[in-house]
Amino acid sequence: MSQDTVSIKNNNTGEQAEFSLLKGTLGTPTIDIGTLNKNLGLFTYDPGFVSTASCKSNITYIDGEKGILLYRGYPIEQLAKQSSFLEVAYLLMNGELPTENKLFNFSNEINHHTILHESLSGFFSGFHYDAHPMAMMVGVVGSLSAFYHGQLNMEDPEHRRISALRMLAKMPTIAAACYQHSIGYPIVYPRRDLEYCENFLNMMFSLPSQTNAQRDKQIDPITVKALNLLFILHADHEQNASTSTVRLASSTGANPYACIAAGISALWGPSHGGANEAVLKMLMEIGTIENIPKYLKKAKDKNDPFRLMGFGHRVYKNFDPRATIIRETCHEVLAHFPTDDPLFELALALEEYALKDEYFIEKKLYPNVDFYSGIIYRALKIPENMFTVMFVIARTAGWVSHWLEMMAEPTHRISRPRQLYTGYDKRDYTPTNLRK
Ligand code: SDX
Repeated sequence: MSQDTVSIKNNNTGEQAEFSLLKGTLGTPTIDIGTLNKNLGLFTYDPGFVSTASCKSNITYIDGEKGILLYRGYPIEQLAKQSSFLEVAYLLMNGELPTENKLFNFSNEINHHTILHESLSGFFSGFHYDAHPMAMMVGVVGSLSAFYHGQLNMEDPEHRRISALRMLAKMPTIAAACYQHSIGYPIVYPRRDLEYCENFLNMMFSLPSQTNAQRDKQIDPITVKALNLLFILHADHEQNASTSTVRLASSTGANPYACIAAGISALWGPSHGGANEAVLKMLMEIGTIENIPKYLKKAKDKNDPFRLMGFGHRVYKNFDPRATIIRETCHEVLAHFPTDDPLFELALALEEYALKDEYFIEKKLYPNVDFYSGIIYRALKIPENMFTVMFVIARTAGWVSHWLEMMAEPTHRISRPRQLYTGYDKRDYTPTNLRK
């Protein structure tokens, strides 16, 4: 029997078949079960896709047991310390780190596409001021498909490249516009003289009455550095729920902006990218270090829906390397922006309690990327309801990279899972007057 196959025997029927064992550069080998139904008349059943690889990808590698995260082979710790978000976005999209000249051109192209079509800006007036920014993001990003559709030829690599670039470029402009709309201020236009994170901060925090000099003065280099780091750490993460959503939507050939809007919808959930906002709400609910045991008890109680937000991960059964890096940055940012905010101390104490607790140890529940990110965003004066929007800006780099990878494949099939049917067997219709 070949070393590169797996035998599956149906003991129910005695039938057996061989399936190819596919090995990647790193990580868990996979069984190619594409012919399982044809050869053995079976489907696999894996709700939540705990043991299911949906695709091949060269972009990001995660080792959950060892807490390893590589972007195109580069360790996240090295990129976090030495790179910028735009350079990492280039790496994820193109597969290699850019030369100085390529990065310069990439940054200029991004800058060129940051502006929104003026009639798209009108979309914001349709939202109440208190609409959740993620609801606005879903709507406005999806509406980009109304501005870039007819002329898009998805078979043309250059059209695909420009579409990806546009998405990455416009996301901060749309995100900042959501915030300005929520506080009743006019949209601030992007500037050609500012770097990606600086531009976002300028669009986010500029006030109508300020001069450009005042606006420039309020862009703090520590804030820019912290944002670059947070965006790098959130840029991609293999086949997480929102990236898988983008891939599944894109498999039908749908407009790429509409597919990214689907990814934003998936990211919003508190089990996924919405956790950073939920962590802050949880810390505020816990309130004091004295209350931690009570809330840990709730988190362990199966009858209590309360979960420790920012803890646990489908893949990491060790420290999420991003959480470790963010925790270190918390110290630096909070030292620079002295606040009397007790939440960081409370988060450190909560982490300490949880990591000593049998339940969390046994279930390998460690802090994930969302546990500390909200504390930094809060110190940077980003409002809570914008935390997941920040995640959207960063993860757009990953979403468009996976979209480009998938669309460049010579053959990609529509994603169409099957099911285990547990409903009624065939039965006949009975007229209303005969029903009991
Ligand atoms: C992100 O996939 C990605 O890569 C995501 C992400 C990315 O970059 O894209 O890393 C970003 O989404 C991080 C995760 C943010 N979410 C949260 O912090 C929400 C809180 N965490 C949980 O909801 C949960 O841990 C998940 C959703 C993250 C993972 O869910 P799984 O893999 O389905 O795990 P599970 O729910 O099956 O949990 C296994 C056990 C269960 O107990 P038993 O049924 O075995 O008795 O652990 C328990 C769970 O009840 N558990 C928790 C818990 N997380 C899991 N118990 C208390 N508090 C928690 N946070």
